[in-house]
Amino acid sequence: MTRRNLIKKWFLALFTFSMSLPLFSFLKSQRYRPPIEKRISKVLKPGQFLTEPEFVLFHTNKGPVAISRRCTHLGCRINYFPEKALFICPCHQSRFTKDGRYISGPAKKDLHRFKVAVLEDGQGYVVYIPR
Ligand code: FES
Repeated sequence: MTRRNLIKKWFLALFTFSMSLPLFSFLKSQRYRPPIEKRISKVLKPGQFLTEPEFVLFHTNKGPVAISRRCTHLGCRINYFPEKALFICPCHQSRFTKDGRYISGPAKKDLHRFKVAVLEDGQGYVVYIPR
């Protein structure tokens, strides 16, 4: 093997490795990561709600519902206004109904809903926040 061929092979190996790094990065980001489990040690009565940094938990006729507070436009933290029964984003004023449905503004998509389970003893909830 000549010196020139050796340099070509090394260059080719280095080039292939550097080109495959984005692929490895993509595959790493696609692996499953379990959701964050947020425990709420409080029982809500029908019509009550609880505001957390990541979501607002409502007690509805159909059971507990957790609506994400992350705006589907650019990710600002949305505030819930119980007197209007609306979520309003402070950044660009997107509005959403109490159950997270899009009404107006630049967001265009509904707010996300998180899975909620009632604790075995019935004395609270577990909200599963996707990562
Ligand atoms: S980030 Fe909420 S409307 Fe733009």
